[in-house]
Amino acid sequence: MASDARVTGPSLTLSRALVQVAQDMDGQFDRLLALPDDPRRKLYEAMRHATIGGGKRLRPLLVVAASALFNVERVAALRVATAIECIHVYSLIHDDMPCMDDDDMRRGKATVHKAFDEATAVLAGDSLHALAFEILADPATHGDPFVRAELVLELARASGPAGMAGGQMMDLVAETESFDLATVTRLQQLKTGALIGFCLEAAAIMGKVPPEGRTSLRGYARDIGLAFQIADDLLDIEGDEAIAGKALGKDAAAGKATFVSLLGADRARQQARMLVDQAIAHLSAFGTKAELLVEIARYAVSRDH
Ligand code: IPE
Ligand code: IPE
Ligand code: MG
Ligand code: MG
Ligand code: MG
Repeated sequence: MASDARVTGPSLTLSRALVQVAQDMDGQFDRLLALPDDPRRKLYEAMRHATIGGGKRLRPLLVVAASALFNVERVAALRVATAIECIHVYSLIHDDMPCMDDDDMRRGKATVHKAFDEATAVLAGDSLHALAFEILADPATHGDPFVRAELVLELARASGPAGMAGGQMMDLVAETESFDLATVTRLQQLKTGALIGFCLEAAAIMGKVPPEGRTSLRGYARDIGLAFQIADDLLDIEGDEAIAGKALGKDAAAGKATFVSLLGADRARQQARMLVDQAIAHLSAFGTKAELLVEIARYAVSRDH
């Protein structure tokens, strides 16, 4: 019993925070994506299908948790959290399309091109991409235009060819070329790490932390980004589809180079755990204020979906 209490104690804080941020995100998307009474309705329906009711909301939680370190207003943090979730969901919509991973299930529901059609899925992704930058550039996000410009710059960098989109390209090439560990590491850093990195960077930007004060948060982001993607690759071979809410076993079927295909499951798991310990060590200077970020790091690899 005693050890149960020790295990469930901290994760209660985390599960409350996850529930809260999930509610916040659902509320934000419900407000932003009110259905118009005109021929664009289907596009909005597709965007609502993808953004409301599902997902772990890990990136929004990272923004909120890191923003709390720098006393950033919650309203501002939630707007930036919504922007990063827009980019993430857009990346998932396109990732699931027949020209990429060709998946039918996402977050326990039909993927957008299945529930609607391919053209609508392309447009829903495009629109969420645009919406992310609209949110960041809006004065309601932050009163200081320099802060808004830096947020836009960093999210653009993290999303484009030097970030997520570039990583997705490498990921497609990984199906036919044999990548070594260094190349797979770079692939993961771009595909998954860049957007996770933005979550921490954005908190520092809003908190007006000078670049030299951001080193430890960047180290934390780099380590959990990698650990998070290793966990995704492990779930792909040993997870439960019903819990994951998406098809699994796809990477091996596609002959894709991942940490798991290169190292084997056990060493990949060890590597992920080592990265989590390293991530947590980066937070030491923040003391107890960083407790939620510590728990998120553990959750990044202990999650079952
Ligand atoms: C899935 O991301 C794609 C990866 C980058 C691994 P998540 O595992 O965060 O997906 P949701 O948001 O919870 O659906
Ligand atoms: C998707 O990676 C990453 C992005 C969408 C940027 P995966 O293809 O591994 O994600 P899942 O497994 O479909 O969620
Ligand atoms: Mg993919
Ligand atoms: Mg996929
Ligand atoms: Mg995957």
